Amino acid sequence: MKRIGVLTSGGDAPGMNAAIRSVVRTALHHDMSVVGFKRGYNGVLMRSQNQVDDFEILTARSVSDKIHRGGTFLRTARCLDFLDPQVQRQAVSNLHALGIEGLVCIGGDGTYKGADALTNLGLPCIGVPGTIDNDLAYTDYTIGFDTALNTACECLNKIRETSDSHERASMLTVMGRNCGDIALHTALTCGAEICMIPEIPWDIIDVAERVKWGVLRGKRSMIIVFAEGALSSLTTDLEKLCAEHEELHDIVPHHNLITSSQIAMIIEKLSGHETRSTVLGYIQRGGSPSARDRLLATQLGAHAADLLAMDRSGLAVGVRGTNLIEVPFADVQKGEHTADSGLADLVDIMAVIRN
Ligand code: F6P
Repeated sequence: MKRIGVLTSGGDAPGMNAAIRSVVRTALHHDMSVVGFKRGYNGVLMRSQNQVDDFEILTARSVSDKIHRGGTFLRTARCLDFLDPQVQRQAVSNLHALGIEGLVCIGGDGTYKGADALTNLGLPCIGVPGTIDNDLAYTDYTIGFDTALNTACECLNKIRETSDSHERASMLTVMGRNCGDIALHTALTCGAEICMIPEIPWDIIDVAERVKWGVLRGKRSMIIVFAEGALSSLTTDLEKLCAEHEELHDIVPHHNLITSSQIAMIIEKLSGHETRSTVLGYIQRGGSPSARDRLLATQLGAHAADLLAMDRSGLAVGVRGTNLIEVPFADVQKGEHTADSGLADLVDIMAVIRN
């Protein structure tokens, strides 16, 4: 290949810039030129008024001073109509017109679906896992997860100090979509007492009981980590609960629209212990990537460019143990991410609430 493209798509993740840098410099090493597309697949579809805003040639210099920066300098977006085959064909035709022979797509599951479709239409693609969620089963880690985890930890350390001073319980909601990895790892590394994740069923009465027990045991703060997707694994019948506890009527006006802050309020009512809620949100998406994420991004970006230089495509790169791997896109979709139940058990063991 003489010319390849690179783009970032989906939610931004710390380390995406380091991955772009690595793709560019490795491609240059293989005598391939690189075009960077902006706003994910939107750039390939050339949807801006001005082409300079859709793509640019990337040189070794264009990616200097980027490895330590959060976000993505190519910018990112979700492009829902990229599922349309007509739109995909337009993308392939645009890429061919620019002389692009291969494309590195950095992002998560949605990004890979687009890359798979382009490959099947004759435009060879490689996927690089860039998402804080760590929700891709084929790879141990995704770029951005480690930084998001460190950010969540730093924030939770601060929350614990205030919780401790006021002798309150605190519930921290972290991101992760349908994956509990950020929550579980944050809970373990910060010594949280309770963690709710989408992969493991939980009951709100049991959580409230554990808060009560913790307080009785003399814990000054009770830290609860809540994965944003954990409502899906709540087993409690909230309607029944509300019928039994009149004071909950105001808190749960529409059960299917309950927020994590309302969950914290229910825990407070049931446990009788003041419980505050903090939703971390985008704080965990931004920020300078950790050393581990910079390293992973550099290795995976280089691996992706190496594969294209060898005329290999239709693959997603990743890491298993200490090995760099590549798997066909079809296999990425097959695997379902599962939570490490051993880690979940460790949260309970470390919390020492009941024994
Ligand atoms: O996939 C990354 C992620 O931050 C998820 O954890 C979260 O559910 C989602 O993106 C939020 O998306 P948006 O960028 O639309 O706010």
